[in-house]
Amino acid sequence: MRFIALFFTLFVSLHATMTLYEKGQELYFQKGCNGCHGIKAGGMTTYPALANRAKGFLTYKLKQFRDKISQNQQQKMMIPFATGLRDKEIDALTTFLSDFVDTQEEQYDSSYETWGDGGS
Ligand code: HEC
Repeated sequence: MRFIALFFTLFVSLHATMTLYEKGQELYFQKGCNGCHGIKAGGMTTYPALANRAKGFLTYKLKQFRDKISQNQQQKMMIPFATGLRDKEIDALTTFLSDFVDTQEEQYDSSYETWGDGGS
């Protein structure tokens, strides 16, 4: 029993020490935002990039979508994803996005060079 209590305390305190950035990062993947906006929030095809954009703008847009306000057909797609977001979650998400730092290694080795003419 004591062990469980200790475990619980540890869990709660770990959660409490999560920064807003980390909370936003967790939400971003939990809510599936990465599915359209990309794992590095760099955008994909017609889905806009969100990384390092103004927090005020991102907040404004998310609140508009939450209120079911969209300017065009394309933006309507965002409404189900913004519906139900709490102010705190929007705050965390936009902090993560506007402060975004890419911590992942490059996927491709840009120093790789091919030599020769490919044998033709
Ligand atoms: C199904 C695909 C999809 C998912 C999932 C999705 N979005 Fe979007 N998002 C869009 C589209 C489409 C737009 C509007 C693009 C346009 O205006 O042309 C958009 C726009 C936005 C904008 C406004 C950006 C701008 O330049 O106007 C923000 C902010 C945003 N999304 C945040 C999020 C967040 C946060 C999540 C996760 C909770 C999320 N999106 C999940 C498709 C998606």
